[in-house]
Amino acid sequence: MNIKYLSILFIAGVITACTHKNTEDTAIDQLLSRMTLEEKIGQMNQLNYEGNSQELDKRIKAGEIGSLLNVVDPVEGNRLQKIAVEESRLGIPLIIGRDVIHGFKTIFPIPLGQAASFNPQIVEKGARIAATEARSVGIHWTFAPMLDISRDARWGRIAESLGEDPYLASVLGAAMVKGFQTDSLSNPTAIAACVKHFVGYGAGEGGRDYNSTNIPPHLMRNVYLRPFESAIHAGAATVMTSFNDNDGVPSSGNTYLLRNVLRDEWKFDGFVVSDWASITEMIAHGFAQDDKQAAEIASNAGLDMEMVSGAYAKYLPELVRDGKVSDKVIDEAVRHILRIKYRLGLFDHPYADTQAPSASYAEESLATAKEAAIQSAILLKNANHLLPLNKNGKIAVIGPMADAPHEQLGTWVFDSEKERSLTPIKALQTMYPEVKYRYEPALAYSRDSNKSAFSKARAAAQQSDVAVVFLGEESILSGEAHCLANIDLVGVQSDLLREVKSTGKPVVLVIMAGRPLTIEKDLPYADAVLYNFHPGTMGGPAIWDLLFGNANPSGKLPVTFVRHVGQIPLYYNHNNTGRPAPDRAASLNDIPVEAEQTSLGNTSHYLDYGKNPLFPFGYGLSYTTFEYSNLQLSAPSIQEGEPLTIQATVANIGNVDGTEVVQLYVQDVVGSIARPVKELKGFSRVSLKAGEAKVVEFTLTSDDLAFWGRDRVRKAEPGDFNVWVGGDSNAPLKTTFTLVE
Ligand code: BGC
Repeated sequence: MNIKYLSILFIAGVITACTHKNTEDTAIDQLLSRMTLEEKIGQMNQLNYEGNSQELDKRIKAGEIGSLLNVVDPVEGNRLQKIAVEESRLGIPLIIGRDVIHGFKTIFPIPLGQAASFNPQIVEKGARIAATEARSVGIHWTFAPMLDISRDARWGRIAESLGEDPYLASVLGAAMVKGFQTDSLSNPTAIAACVKHFVGYGAGEGGRDYNSTNIPPHLMRNVYLRPFESAIHAGAATVMTSFNDNDGVPSSGNTYLLRNVLRDEWKFDGFVVSDWASITEMIAHGFAQDDKQAAEIASNAGLDMEMVSGAYAKYLPELVRDGKVSDKVIDEAVRHILRIKYRLGLFDHPYADTQAPSASYAEESLATAKEAAIQSAILLKNANHLLPLNKNGKIAVIGPMADAPHEQLGTWVFDSEKERSLTPIKALQTMYPEVKYRYEPALAYSRDSNKSAFSKARAAAQQSDVAVVFLGEESILSGEAHCLANIDLVGVQSDLLREVKSTGKPVVLVIMAGRPLTIEKDLPYADAVLYNFHPGTMGGPAIWDLLFGNANPSGKLPVTFVRHVGQIPLYYNHNNTGRPAPDRAASLNDIPVEAEQTSLGNTSHYLDYGKNPLFPFGYGLSYTTFEYSNLQLSAPSIQEGEPLTIQATVANIGNVDGTEVVQLYVQDVVGSIARPVKELKGFSRVSLKAGEAKVVEFTLTSDDLAFWGRDRVRKAEPGDFNVWVGGDSNAPLKTTFTLVE
């Protein structure tokens, strides 16, 4: 225990009638009252750790630094912490942050993959394992979950997202927060979560990173803010502002979002951190003229801690003295930061236990990572029941992703070791030594354009009963600043697939990628397609378990797969427009040569690519078949506050056991603003033995029907609602009910 702080706690402790929260507030107020302005501003300053230096030690000792990011050596972390705790005047511990996005050592599928599981329990477990591994080396804080609704596969960061749907992202985001933080931040294996990027970052123009967004107020409320609100209510300790400007206002200077929404409406009491230099980037945005003004705007807007750019440290003292930033603004920011340090128990336990046995790669963690990878894989095609494969046949294993230990981990894996990755080839060798296979990578990596080894791949396929072709994206092709205008399979991978298919052998295409790729033109050359968003450490074993039928695919798409990049944005929960396209809309070839300006039905669609995606949101096949029937409501109408029960029967009518993600969609037919054609309102993973049927039940209340309407108030509006239950967002089983006044 830090001695200087002990007295403060003692004073707080004697107020025995106080609640825990009061104790916390008292302790923080006491500490604040002893801090100089410079020490307060020091707490608002986060630096990137760039190796040890006397200058850094000196600044920590002087109380000029509240947080460091990217210290991962626990011995060095403890040394720096010791300076803060024992050598600085007030002994306030550092909070050490790191991007622990989908695992620390044991890597889980990228968040987009985890979202495909539609399973909050496995998502929570993944975050729990990541937190335990990270905290064991002295990391207190992760910059996750990323809750940016992502409807543009060109954007590299779609990989880090939980997909296109606000409900799914809300449920899974809250689960991640819970996994990182547990019920109490004081748990010695907890780390503080940071929900990011607040807000709208996924809607950047043209899918280009850092770009401007133009999200109007209703859409902001009904889509983009929702997962954040859910995560804040789940207790997320911190929030990170985003890089984009929305309608001209950069998030790091957005008072409305940071004060009115986050604090006043949502009662958030943790702290807000900027993104990397996003405060001083307001100069490039044309929103601040220099670092000093940027610091003034951001601090007054309610941004508590500055990541790396140093404008707070440099200019806030002067801005306060000049009356441009009030003491109250500073005190509030520091209070928020100290509160999270306090809740994390850093004043009592500032150090990592370097003697403890390693928490990394525990057998149970690897098993959970494998299960997560299994549940995240999506079966997109399975012609003639090619899958599952017979282990007795001879397999040609082809492609650059079959043995790419680094690539299968995906983006944001600073701390993983590729040597720990079980690639499909490694998994085949260790788990299935009896299987006869020939491996021909044919390409050295996904972008490789050298076709000289195609003939070997061809020969391997010819000698085998089936070819399994592993294609996709290297991990560096998605993630921050890795956007693409063309999202076809990169390089000559499509040619490789065609080459293999031309042997006449059955072909299984296994994709590992960071985004939904445009694979329509590849589908005819694959009899079966198993899509994996980069699956992590245990990708190999998970994939073979699925291919050999030891596990049955159950993943569902958390994003719409477009046929052509030009269809973007295309998402299931769009508005209907005044001219929705019919199923058979006019196409390019319907137009006579030299046609006059004439009506082709004049509906909302493309003449060349129509209106439909390649695969809809929520889609995913199984080795068995699920049949839905008997959709029933507890009442034809409900009043506000009354629950409505929705039931449907789901039957496994195939020959193998399986798990189905049963999805509930609702449409508010008429609203004070136009409402989406349907919205996901519930989902449930249901396991069914072959031949088994179960009744699945969902309960909705009027609150689940609420939205921000014309009067800018969140409420449910009376009227008719359509309801669908099924296995994807095109589920046909439909009924209706009415919400009466
Ligand atoms: C990213 C954040 C990340 C931060 C710290 C930024 O470039 O946008 O998501 O948490 O760096 O590494």
